[in-house]
Amino acid sequence: MVAVANQTSGRASARQVAVWDPLVRLIHWSLAMTILLNGAFVEEESTTHEWVGYIALGLVGLRLVWALIGPGHARFSAFPPSPRRAVRHLKAMLAGDRSVHLSHNPLGALMAYNIWASVIAIGVTGYMMTTLTFFGVDWVEEIHEAIFNWLLLSVALHVAGVAFDSWRSGINLVRAMINGRKIIPDGRDVK
Ligand code: HEM
Ligand code: HEM
Repeated sequence: MVAVANQTSGRASARQVAVWDPLVRLIHWSLAMTILLNGAFVEEESTTHEWVGYIALGLVGLRLVWALIGPGHARFSAFPPSPRRAVRHLKAMLAGDRSVHLSHNPLGALMAYNIWASVIAIGVTGYMMTTLTFFGVDWVEEIHEAIFNWLLLSVALHVAGVAFDSWRSGINLVRAMINGRKIIPDGRDVK
């Protein structure tokens, strides 16, 4: 059985902390799969592309609802979108601060919101292309594609950020997104 640590602020008193509930993990890997499918494998003008796109939209919608009603670390309140906090976090990191965030760190939080907003924008422009008003309209297609490219860049940065923060913090963040648990090294401040 997993020992669950003191999950509030302060010094961690145990080593393993349950952070990501099963729904967060399921949504994360399913969303990644839909982006991979639509970006690389599915014929872009097919019905499958449209359905996979709507599934991506649904996953983001479900995640946003879960951020209102789900468990603590999954909530908006655990990782508010705050550029000011992100800058403070960056400065602290550069100064050698190795404290641990149980939910997303402030930079990771901004990236999560950016990715969700991008998927919504891609889904909406995708839907627009199926309507009589916007069918065949160049700028809608161009925005759909441009935001997809932005999403690709974001995901590349996201994965680089996860790798960097795993190295910096000494916590295997990918494993945490798989089994839900972060293993906190001794003596770290937990936020
Ligand atoms: C298209 C691909 C991907 C997308 C769209 C994506 C999107 C996201 C989003 C939106 C979050 C926030 C999760 C939440 O709070 O529900 C997140 C977190 C996370 N993702 Fe991804 N992701 C992708 C690929 C990956 C890959 C390939 C990895 C592994 C190398 C990865 C590892 C993680 C980890 C470890 C977190 C949690 C970070 C933390 O501890 O703060 N992701 N991702
Ligand atoms: C996560 C969601 C989605 C992703 C990642 C995605 C990605 C893409 C990409 C990469 C292209 C090719 C762009 C180009 O090179 O021209 C494309 C085209 C297209 N997408 Fe999506 N898409 C998504 C959702 C949707 C949805 C929900 C719809 C419609 C309901 C849709 C409809 C289309 C159509 C009609 C095209 C062809 C545009 C053209 O004629 O060039 N997409 N999409």
